[in-house]
Amino acid sequence: MHLFRTKPVEQLGNDEGDGRDVGRLRRTLSARHLVGFGIGVVIGTGIFTLTGVEARDTAGPAVVVSFALAGLVALLAALCYAELAAAAPTAGSAYSYAYATAGELVAWVIGWDLFLEFALGAAVVARGWSGYVGNLLDLPTSAFGEESTVNVGAALIVVLLTVVAVLGIRESARVTGALVVVKVAVCVFVVVAGAWFVRGANLTPFVPPSRPEEASGGLAQPVVSAVLGLDPVAFGVGGVLTAAAVVFFAYTGFEAVANLSEETRRPGRDLPLGLLGTLALSTVLYIGVSLVVVGMVPYDRLDRGAPIADAFDQVGLGWAAALIAVAAVAGLTSVILVDLITVSRIGFAMGRDGLLPPAIARVSPRTGTPVRITLAFAALVLVMATFVPLGTLADLVSIGTLFAFLLVSVAVVVLRRTRPDMHRPFRVPLSPLLPGLAALACLYLMLNLSIETWLRFVAWLALGLLVYAAYGYRNSRVGAGSR
Ligand code: ALA
Repeated sequence: MHLFRTKPVEQLGNDEGDGRDVGRLRRTLSARHLVGFGIGVVIGTGIFTLTGVEARDTAGPAVVVSFALAGLVALLAALCYAELAAAAPTAGSAYSYAYATAGELVAWVIGWDLFLEFALGAAVVARGWSGYVGNLLDLPTSAFGEESTVNVGAALIVVLLTVVAVLGIRESARVTGALVVVKVAVCVFVVVAGAWFVRGANLTPFVPPSRPEEASGGLAQPVVSAVLGLDPVAFGVGGVLTAAAVVFFAYTGFEAVANLSEETRRPGRDLPLGLLGTLALSTVLYIGVSLVVVGMVPYDRLDRGAPIADAFDQVGLGWAAALIAVAAVAGLTSVILVDLITVSRIGFAMGRDGLLPPAIARVSPRTGTPVRITLAFAALVLVMATFVPLGTLADLVSIGTLFAFLLVSVAVVVLRRTRPDMHRPFRVPLSPLLPGLAALACLYLMLNLSIETWLRFVAWLALGLLVYAAYGYRNSRVGAGSR
């Protein structure tokens, strides 16, 4: 069964000497850089927008609990990533772990799925960036708004960040680090300054009584309610859980840290630190920020678009809105940069394996980055971000992420059985319980996404299978070895 041929764990991230060497990435990153990249890609639009909508419509002040729960699920997934990334440090991350466990076909599917997560993610955020900057600087919406036919703002930011990504991983780390300092500083400011305006009365009732929500039918309804015939509820415990599924989006992206494995100096130590450090910091910041915001303003008076800036406005600190806007732009910029870097690392790993043409995976000896594949993905992102209104596709990014998390959790359990001897510098505690819980939680969140999103996702994977049949299946290096 060629479709299920696997690649030995020992070969992951260690492919040299078979005549098609694509070169090596440079090992220069430390745990500090990894946390920088992690926070760079995690803290983006989620905290700046979802807090308002979810508190107001679904969870009330208990949106804080939703953030904590979503953080917990993300933590479970991060523990699984930490085990595999430390044991098999490879730029392919989830794609490569799948190659070692479930075989080539599943690996391809995951790789293709990750293209969706990071390339589409970069394009969606680039359009968001353009709208935000256009708004802030009062630029014409015909070039910066969602209705533009040629979104100049999105094109500009993609080109600029592609240059940074190509220049080198150290250079990218420096740029990301600076942007991260800005957004973390503003989040801390929000917590400290906002704390003075927190009123106990705004926090009661903490969990408003539950009431049925206008069910959105058809393809827009969550798969779980269609299958089980459940009606969605707002507020109450059910509301807190529903909101947790939505705010989970705010934590996605941390796994990009694992894709920097081959550029990390001491992967066994630094990858678990980078992954768990990123999550610890973002969870603390998210809980702090959401608690302060729902404490400052009654939840039913929170703004849906820019809840944090608006809360400061409502307590008479309108000037803080500018600071928050700067943090949001810094946040979006670093998300695009890390997305571009990550998707190119996945493409690099797949090219090295022969599932994509190896020539485009080659690392430039001058910059130490996979220049061609970075440019190829950047071109794709550029076209999408410039010409396609993508707002409705954000959920596709979430389903792609959750699918990868699900697979990584399963891979931890499978490898513990098939390769008990593998050197594991970090181990998920209580396996298979915690990885099992991680897998179930990811599945639950996936089922909360709409039927429409599932259909689009399946269509994307089907397209991927055609590409695999046309190229990867015939050109796989593992396949060549077995023939
Ligand atoms: N986690 C990222 C955000 O919140 C995607 O924007």
